[in-house]
Amino acid sequence: MDHFDLILKNGTVVTSSQERADIGCRDGKIVAIGDLGRAEATEVIDCTSLYILPGIIDPHVHLREPGNASVETIHDGTKGAILGGVTTVFDMPNTAESVVSKEVLDRKRAMILGKSWCDIGLYVGATKKNIDMLDTLEVQDNVCAIKVFAGSSTGDLLVDDDASLEALMRNGTRRVCYHSEDETRLQERKKLFSVGQPYRTHMEWRDVECAFLGTRRLMTLARKTGRKTHILHVSTAEELAYMRDFKDIGTVEVLVNHLTQVGPEVYDRLGGYAIMNPPIRDQRHYDASWAAVNAGDVDCIGSDHAPHSREAKERPWPLTSAGLTGVQTLVPIMLDHVNAGRLPLERMAALMSAGPARVYGAVGKGHIAPGYDADFTIVDLAHRRTIEESWITSPCGWTPFAGMSCTGWPVMTVIRGQAVMRDDEIIGSPRGAVVSFS
Ligand code: DOR
Repeated sequence: MDHFDLILKNGTVVTSSQERADIGCRDGKIVAIGDLGRAEATEVIDCTSLYILPGIIDPHVHLREPGNASVETIHDGTKGAILGGVTTVFDMPNTAESVVSKEVLDRKRAMILGKSWCDIGLYVGATKKNIDMLDTLEVQDNVCAIKVFAGSSTGDLLVDDDASLEALMRNGTRRVCYHSEDETRLQERKKLFSVGQPYRTHMEWRDVECAFLGTRRLMTLARKTGRKTHILHVSTAEELAYMRDFKDIGTVEVLVNHLTQVGPEVYDRLGGYAIMNPPIRDQRHYDASWAAVNAGDVDCIGSDHAPHSREAKERPWPLTSAGLTGVQTLVPIMLDHVNAGRLPLERMAALMSAGPARVYGAVGKGHIAPGYDADFTIVDLAHRRTIEESWITSPCGWTPFAGMSCTGWPVMTVIRGQAVMRDDEIIGSPRGAVVSFS
């Protein structure tokens, strides 16, 4: 009789459908799905009444290392990830120092070993100076993608002129990821406002046109060069409609924030703790984002986890640092949306596990099928819990979702066959690995 390292018994397995089944794992991989009857295993976990999702991937986090350990670290941010049911994160390059060369990438990879609680893929940032090296950088081990800030945000990474953007698109073959806001319009409009205006001014400054112009420009160049393109945190109805004409080369990420919070109310309620780029927008864009999720016009949902100190968040607008914590609250909030009937659980799995795995080419991730990594996000759809700031592991210590009651909660996180979180308890030591990409 087959022996397994781990059997998840009697859960409802969520793939493109939902099916009651046992899952057998060996050597960190899924090896059997079905009725495993009396098969033997080193560990059997009863998943009766629980739903088993493929391990959730957050494709958009800023773990800030190297950088300011008082707001976030690889250790603390990934601990939040597994407490929140996330098994893999893709970490952004706008750190201090930024990940823009092989040397820094190698240092960054070395930092992860023994510190990360979940698996990690690494972005490399584009600059105007490293364009001719991007084809080499994008194929380094564990690189999920090249990230381009085509509009400025936190940090000093920026490639904003057409000639540089076209040159970078022509140097390499993998999908390139963009922060898409039009830099010229951003800078011109900034002059229209003054320090101390209400926080809701943020969505007027970085307006819909800033985002739309940015995306139109990038997709025009992408069409010209034929380069595969992923637009991160698409936030407007206009961009979502526009991207429908680019399904052959373009993919779309939306953020949990844009699916959950609505301006101007959120600015009046949270002040600087609502400030992020691109901004949280009004009801029309919220509705368009949900329509796009359910129409199949979205490929990935992420958190854009971007910690800053309380001091930096409480500065008057626009001196406030932009960015919101989110990796730990991503799954609970999306489960609450599932319970509210905004999307089916199967679509959540498709957009938060299979989607990122496909868009970035993460090897062994994204599916519950034999041969894939035994990564699972196990959830209790009936569990109600309120998000509390005291639960947040990021040293910055805050979440814009404090006080939100969620129906549906991750109760177990399994990474490569090892349960690393069970009922809010962390198990073992940080054993996160770097992800490979095809
Ligand atoms: O709000 C944001 N914060 N948007 C970004 O693009 C960057 C991020 C950060 O790193 O703080």
